[in-house]
Amino acid sequence: MAYENILREDREGVAFVTVNRPDKLNALNNSTIGELQHCFDALTLDESVRAVILTGSGEKAFVAGADISELAEQTAITARPLALRGQRLMNTVEGCTKPVVAAVNGYALGGGCELALACHIRTASDNAQFGLPEVTLGIIPGYGGTQRLARIAGPGVAREWVLTGEMIGAEEAWRVGVVNRLFAPEELKEGTWKLAETILSRGPIALRLALETIRRGLNMSQQEGEIIESDMFGLASTTDDMRQRMQAFLDKAKKK
Ligand code: COA
Repeated sequence: MAYENILREDREGVAFVTVNRPDKLNALNNSTIGELQHCFDALTLDESVRAVILTGSGEKAFVAGADISELAEQTAITARPLALRGQRLMNTVEGCTKPVVAAVNGYALGGGCELALACHIRTASDNAQFGLPEVTLGIIPGYGGTQRLARIAGPGVAREWVLTGEMIGAEEAWRVGVVNRLFAPEELKEGTWKLAETILSRGPIALRLALETIRRGLNMSQQEGEIIESDMFGLASTTDDMRQRMQAFLDKAKKK
């Protein structure tokens, strides 16, 4: 599929996906959602890709939300399937078997904030702005944001962001745990790349199992999550990768 609204560029096992509608601040129109869905479906199955970095084109925005010119046309009949389609994309991003890092380079509002929340880790430039302004337009977040923000930062923060609709600076987003690492704008790309490199130096199967364990556990009780954890722990212990990494540690210790 040829993309018109996104770019994908692969380097050293990392796929850089860029939402590319800078003149509309990378707003998610229907066709961009379709292209992202296609792209993340393909990434999940592509064994040459070991991590994904998702960002926005230009210097102003990661993604400034769902496309309001399309939202304005929605009715009670069309809105629900649109929300379900957006939710499916966010679930695909979150369910990606490779680590997905959002490099938030500017506005991450509405659907853009929800897209960042669906990524596994978020880095941001210190001038980025987050927010869920849907209530200012008379709607509510519909791409999983009400659920994910409450799980990531707690229900108090989720209610504050959703009910005020205010923009939240990157430092505050970092303080409440929405952003993992903050960078000066000119260092965001390099800093995010280094983070991806660190992750990619770790056991590849362990990374997959860890992602899966955390994701599934979020929708379970602690007890049920620990059962998944012990199963995955057992699975990790069957790999050559585990044996090689542990032997390398022991050999190094012997030489000291
Ligand atoms: N949907 C559709 N178009 C959008 C958009 C969105 N979510 N966000 C920005 N754009 C468009 C603008 O309409 C404008 O297009 P134009 O040049 O054809 O008029 C272009 O992107 C640039 O945006 P502009 O508003 O001129 O930039 P700004 O720097 O003055 O303001 C924002 C930036 C982010 C504060 C402002 O664009 C904004 O409030 N956007 C909507 C955010 C939002 O409510 N998102 C949630 C939707 S549910």
